[in-house]
Amino acid sequence: MNKKDNIILIGFMGCGKSSVGYRLSYAMRRTLIDTDKLIEKQQDMTISQIFRDKGEQAFRQMETDCIKGLIKTADRQIISTGGGLPMKEENHALLKQLGTVYYLKVTKEAVYERLKGDTTRPLLQGDNPQGKIEELLAKRAPVYEACADYVIEVSDKSFEEIIGEICKKEKVRQ
Ligand code: S3P
Repeated sequence: MNKKDNIILIGFMGCGKSSVGYRLSYAMRRTLIDTDKLIEKQQDMTISQIFRDKGEQAFRQMETDCIKGLIKTADRQIISTGGGLPMKEENHALLKQLGTVYYLKVTKEAVYERLKGDTTRPLLQGDNPQGKIEELLAKRAPVYEACADYVIEVSDKSFEEIIGEICKKEKVRQ
């Protein structure tokens, strides 16, 4: 199947996928799809409820089903993904098929600053969120890199700068 013309944002929790996606959709006049929101809507449950009642494995399967569905329906859209979605090997080929993948790369310090006090991410709850961020990010960063067509450093940049970089790359690409 041919590669679709979607822009896909991947990266760690708190890297700004949803906020960048929102602004990018406005700048490029493309609609925004957020896989977490889509799954919450389909399940009529929050992510925390899904993790609690159905478990992480079930959520990961929902993510794979979600991108499989988007391959059939989405075109010329901005797709913001959950931070763990690229961790499943099977999803790499699906993401490549779905569109051009941008990895929003963030430092652990920036993630901690942005997400301290957050209660909506089940994987960062508990005693030592800083340690969890560090451990997960170290494990995930190489996978995000491997999955991405482009890497955009985001920690010290304004939204305008990030959007500008992505738009420039898209112009060159097209
Ligand atoms: C997760 C990231 C979350 C959400 C879920 C699991 C992860 O999305 O999908 O809590 O495994 O990194 P965000 O990256 O939008 O926070």
